[in-house]
Amino acid sequence: MTFDNLTGQLFWPTPLKDWRIEEHGFQPEAVIKNGNKFLTANGYMGYRGTLEENGAAELAAVNLSGVYDQRGTAWREPVNAPNPFHVVTRVAGQVLDPLQHPISDHEQVLDMAAAVHHRRTTFSTGNTLVTITANRFLDMAQPQFMFLEYIVQVKQATVISVTAGIDKQIWDINGPHLVDCQSWREDSVFGYGGQTGESQLAVTTLSRILVNQGECNDIDRPDQVGQTIAVTVTPERPLCLLIAAAVTTGRETDAPIAALADTLASYTPETIGQEYNRHCQKLAALWHTSDIQIEGPQQDQVALRYNILALMMIAPLAGSQLSIPARGLSGQTYKGAVFWDTELFMTPFFLATQPAVVRDLVAYRLKGLIGAKKKAVEYGYTGAFYAWESQEDGYDATSDYNVTDVFTNRPMRTYFKDKQIHISGDVALAIWQAFQWLQDPAILSQGGAEVIVECARFYVSYATARLDRSEVAFTDVIGPDEYHERVSNNAFTNRVALATIEAALAAIAYLRENNAEYLAKIAQQWQLTDLLPLFTETAARIRLQTPNAAGVISQFDGYLALADDSIDTVRSRLLKPKEYWGGAYGVASQTQVIKQADVVMMLAVFPNDFSSDIVRANWQYYEPRTEHGSSLSYSMYGLIAAQLGMTAPAYDFFQKTAAIDLTGESKQWAGTIYIGGTHPAASGGTWRLAVEGFAGLHVENDQLVATPHLPSQWQKMAFRTYYQGHWYRVNVTAAGAVVSIADDEKIGVDD
Ligand code: BGC
Repeated sequence: MTFDNLTGQLFWPTPLKDWRIEEHGFQPEAVIKNGNKFLTANGYMGYRGTLEENGAAELAAVNLSGVYDQRGTAWREPVNAPNPFHVVTRVAGQVLDPLQHPISDHEQVLDMAAAVHHRRTTFSTGNTLVTITANRFLDMAQPQFMFLEYIVQVKQATVISVTAGIDKQIWDINGPHLVDCQSWREDSVFGYGGQTGESQLAVTTLSRILVNQGECNDIDRPDQVGQTIAVTVTPERPLCLLIAAAVTTGRETDAPIAALADTLASYTPETIGQEYNRHCQKLAALWHTSDIQIEGPQQDQVALRYNILALMMIAPLAGSQLSIPARGLSGQTYKGAVFWDTELFMTPFFLATQPAVVRDLVAYRLKGLIGAKKKAVEYGYTGAFYAWESQEDGYDATSDYNVTDVFTNRPMRTYFKDKQIHISGDVALAIWQAFQWLQDPAILSQGGAEVIVECARFYVSYATARLDRSEVAFTDVIGPDEYHERVSNNAFTNRVALATIEAALAAIAYLRENNAEYLAKIAQQWQLTDLLPLFTETAARIRLQTPNAAGVISQFDGYLALADDSIDTVRSRLLKPKEYWGGAYGVASQTQVIKQADVVMMLAVFPNDFSSDIVRANWQYYEPRTEHGSSLSYSMYGLIAAQLGMTAPAYDFFQKTAAIDLTGESKQWAGTIYIGGTHPAASGGTWRLAVEGFAGLHVENDQLVATPHLPSQWQKMAFRTYYQGHWYRVNVTAAGAVVSIADDEKIGVDD
């Protein structure tokens, strides 16, 4: 069906420079990197920032949140849905793709105000120019839906043929995940999908194409289902396509395919325009509470917004009980697993800007308690030992052999799953923090207290006490610095274990005061009479690493006696560039070189433990020894530097953490395995560095206080934050900060 009134420019990107990420010119080697940089997402799914003509070879993907599948014995990973926006334009049989065809101009833009992906490419074909412009968005108001407008303009009349529709070739790392795939068509709507091999969950993409002119023919080929459009395009009348598409899975029983197909069939250019407005309104409401405005270099403003948008787009949908994977919704890397990244790096952002999201982040961990308890039993402990790499139900996806040895090509035994026990405390403390920040008793009484107590029980059962019971130790663990495996008394781990047990005692005391009925119900299950003295006694005796004469806190027992080689020396010992630095034979293992913030991470999580002199001494000791081999590292060094008033290095770290997905300079391939993707922990860390570091926002006696340390490049900062039932505005200048209640805010914790 053709629509004469279809003229394009429905989702036109903003011209405002501080709301745009843009790249001009085409670099073939940047196609995959840009798939991450220009990602758009809406919590239900992520669409990689590839071009419409791209396919599996360029890692085009529609990555689904919370749908996983395992094929054979390969790693279990999230499922990609068939891509409905595969559009290829041909002139005289030649494909217009900058990878294959000469171009005179190319731009790719992410409009951050509306989360619209825009590209415009001008191709030189024969003696004329053909320009393709395409804008797409993943609907924030109706998250199963997405829309694309695609416009072909010419300098002189040209015969154009376009093939548009659903790409049947899905990019998978360990796939294919969809079996028994079929295409179908009902009037103007067509679809393609199958079911996952492991749990027979249906995954289907539906689509409908609206055009303004041309001869349209339906196609269903082995590689694509959709339409071809043949037309002579003139300069006066560009060819315009509007594609409305939806993805559905077996989870959405309340939105059967027929209902989605009806909605797609009913769309006109006007109603799609209205839907775009609804999407923009939804996003504007998120920006209203989440934006940080600065007076300073435009590139910093843009980078801040980029990282904020990255988090807003991948927040789990309300009621989904899902969380955020370490690579967001950018693909299947890292098995789509949720790590401590969410609790320590992202949750603070959501608590302050979109508290409703925290309910799902917490609900996800409550759901995971079953798996965490099973894991504890498997390892011979009691309580809850959370998954290091957690998939949709909280079961541990970490392989025992997570790294491949580059010399032998054999899998190497790693101990992330077995020994990174700080994960339980990271989960418990985030729930405790959510309870305090939101002042919401339901967080404790609807399962939160149980998680905290079970995590505390786990630590008590893991701890080993000296015979005279003078000291409690946590031996054979891995701290945040994964290069040093199976160490004892990692400073961060022990401190987290102590805080978890203290939180459990505080949660029980709170329930006793405020919800005795609930406590009575579960006291039996917890055997409180035995548990309380055990908690108190263990907490009193946990061995904490303390500063030495120079003020330095040992990362673990014996760390300071390791060879004190420089990072360059350690790097020079690598025999192969992709060699693993940690584990039994790693170049860093016998030295003090560490992967990421560890003691400094502890100082960030427990800011009141030590004087600023001690904090400074440790920052200065550990920073030169840190490889920053994880995207989690820069932000914590920056945060502590800012809090210490060391604004120059803090600013340097801000730029590094904020740019991780903009430059794409992080590790992308491990041998032949793609490990790239977006880095939401670095985005959350960017926010934390700006808000908790530069603005110095913190809580003192249940009051929000800001003690700013602005970098010299910034004159002002302004943002909103939610805290204990109120919205606040925080205005920061070099002279100080004002934190004031913003009673006009309409958006509450449950909106
Ligand atoms: C880091 C972990 C992190 C994980 C996922 C690893 O490289 O060492 O701390 O949780 O990546 O981002």
